[in-house]
Amino acid sequence: MSTHVAISSLSKGHFDAVKVPTPSPGEGEVLIKVAYSGLSPIDVYINDLALIHATFPLTLGYSASGTIAQVGPGVQDLKVGDRVAAYTYRASESKGMQEYAIVTKSVVAMIPDSLPLDAAATLPNNFITSFNSLFNPEYLALPIPSSFPPSTPPVLANTPVLVYGGATSCGHFAIQILRIAGYRNIMAIASPKNHEQLRSLGAAHIFDYNSPRMVEDIKNVVEASSSNKKIEIPSGVVAILLPFKMGNSFESEELYMEIPDDMNPLPKGVRIAGVRNLKFEENAYMKDNIMPKILPALLQIGAIQPHRVRLINELFGSLKERVVVGMDLLRNDQVSREKVIVKVQ
Ligand SMILES: NC(=O)c1ccc[n+]([C@@H]2O[C@H](COP(=O)([O-])OP(=O)(O)OC[C@H]3O[C@@H](n4cnc5c(N)ncnc54)[C@H](OP(=O)(O)O)[C@@H]3O)[C@@H](O)[C@H]2O)c1
Repeated sequence: MSTHVAISSLSKGHFDAVKVPTPSPGEGEVLIKVAYSGLSPIDVYINDLALIHATFPLTLGYSASGTIAQVGPGVQDLKVGDRVAAYTYRASESKGMQEYAIVTKSVVAMIPDSLPLDAAATLPNNFITSFNSLFNPEYLALPIPSSFPPSTPPVLANTPVLVYGGATSCGHFAIQILRIAGYRNIMAIASPKNHEQLRSLGAAHIFDYNSPRMVEDIKNVVEASSSNKKIEIPSGVVAILLPFKMGNSFESEELYMEIPDDMNPLPKGVRIAGVRNLKFEENAYMKDNIMPKILPALLQIGAIQPHRVRLINELFGSLKERVVVGMDLLRNDQVSREKVIVKVQ
């Protein structure tokens, strides 16, 4: 059996390069020759903190781009050589930080020839998370447009929608998806150095999370947009991307999958929806549409911009050494409006 190199967490706090068998695709699956893989906060949570009782060994990398190397039975829309991006979120053989990854067709998006593969690797995890958070009835539950982009504006087109963490990878796509779906009153929170860029993506009002006036400024914009001009009964939905982490340190073990009642800062009447994107395929619409149809169509018409690439390539050493550099950037909070992308091969 042929083998390839993977970067896997072997125990809490320890990852290494390992040789693993290269599987063949089964029914509905494809084998991707991985060119680039993205690192995300969850990779650090799993490796450093054994988040969600991770069972080791577990290969890293929740996003990948590359070319199709083999196609399994029952796959009609993808063929060997196609350039693709994939959400590589399941067991080790499906993860992105390895030379070959096996995935189901439902997590694969074809990408246009004009899109470089490193930029394509910024898309899968965070585009899906943002789309799912906005439109899944379990989360923000915005009405799903009949087409994407829609032919008519949504009912709530002028309702304020706040993206807290507008410069995160998820925020980058949430702002764009809202704009494409016809929302006009998009508010975002980010460092001032990122405000201009977020405006160009579609945010109408942008706030600085270090400003002592932030809450007041947001309230003013919301009240100016609402009919009775004063918020008397707080209501609405807050979709929170889990895990919820206390403080800015990755060394903290304080990760929560639910906000404890005594730490909940939100008033009664506000629904909190904790997003568990690893379950996105439980929703048939999300499974059948986001990667197979919506993302390729938006890329084809140039409606969606990939995120900014922080490239870690061979100049940083072996594949393992590149991952060490990338994980340290995330751990040390050195990522600002960019995605850490590791060149795999
Ligand atoms: N539940 C799920 O299924 C799921 C899926 C994906 C992600 N997530 C979670 O979602 C979060 C974002 O992930 P990501 O990969 O998109 O993050 P990321 O790109 O790594 O986030 C980096 C950005 O965080 C921003 N930031 C830091 N502190 C902030 C604060 N106090 N207020 C607002 N923004 C702040 C910084 O913005 P500035 O540069 O402007 O300072 C920086 O650009 C993470 O906690 C991740 O674990 C959850």
